[in-house]
Amino acid sequence: MAHVDRLSWPAELATTEEQFRARIAVYPEGQWVAEENGRIVAVSSAQRISERVLHNGHIDHNRLTDFGRFTRSHDPKGEVYQLIGVGVLPEYRWMQLGRLMIDHQVEFARGLAGVRRIVGFTRPVRYYRYSEMPIEEYVRRRTETGRLLDPVLSFHLDSGARLVSIHPNFRPEDHKACGYAVLIEYPVPKRETGA
Ligand SMILES: CC(C)(COP(=O)(O)OP(=O)(O)OC[C@H]1O[C@@H](n2cnc3c(N)ncnc32)[C@H](O)[C@@H]1OP(=O)(O)O)[C@@H](O)C(=O)NCCC(=O)NCCS
Repeated sequence: MAHVDRLSWPAELATTEEQFRARIAVYPEGQWVAEENGRIVAVSSAQRISERVLHNGHIDHNRLTDFGRFTRSHDPKGEVYQLIGVGVLPEYRWMQLGRLMIDHQVEFARGLAGVRRIVGFTRPVRYYRYSEMPIEEYVRRRTETGRLLDPVLSFHLDSGARLVSIHPNFRPEDHKACGYAVLIEYPVPKRETGA
């Protein structure tokens, strides 16, 4: 998993082997991989958190994830299923594998008792090229073909998620996103209460 992350994410953002081990120890159900012939080619991580964490002052990646480990941040009864990251090996991209990972995570989360929201803090990955544009405008700006300017935002927002809020200084080391994260949310259909 760490190998895939190293080849998918910028070095300063990749999840380490030690962090993956800690995540698997605390919440194995949220850690997903795609394999081909026994080789891991895509990874995706999630944890559960309490709703109040989202309204508790300044939010940043390290606080939300206990420095990427989930050890003290994962709450087994948390109402919010938080997608942390998805990475696909470069030679396996553009095959809908990333989409499949997120779709499986979302379906899984929708089936969990007590989960009311499914969210992710995602990266406006091309903002560094447009940083003279206000971020509020950038995250909504579309090209002539109707796609969002940002491919990672498009990955989520053109596939069923909605934009919730924009967070400066979420990950200052994410130079491409200029430290910003965009909170996105996938809908959770109301459960049938049954008779
Ligand atoms: C984002 C990522 C997971 C997409 O994986 P993938 O398997 O290629 O994605 P899919 O084939 O399911 O979907 C393709 C979509 O991904 C997005 N995408 C494609 N290339 C991308 C890139 N270089 N950077 C970001 N997003 C990209 C586009 O929205 C694309 O949509 P399109 O097919 O309509 O053009 C993959 O590019 C990756 O690992 N990126 C690095 C890590 C990262 O930034 N993760 C996302 C933040 S949580």
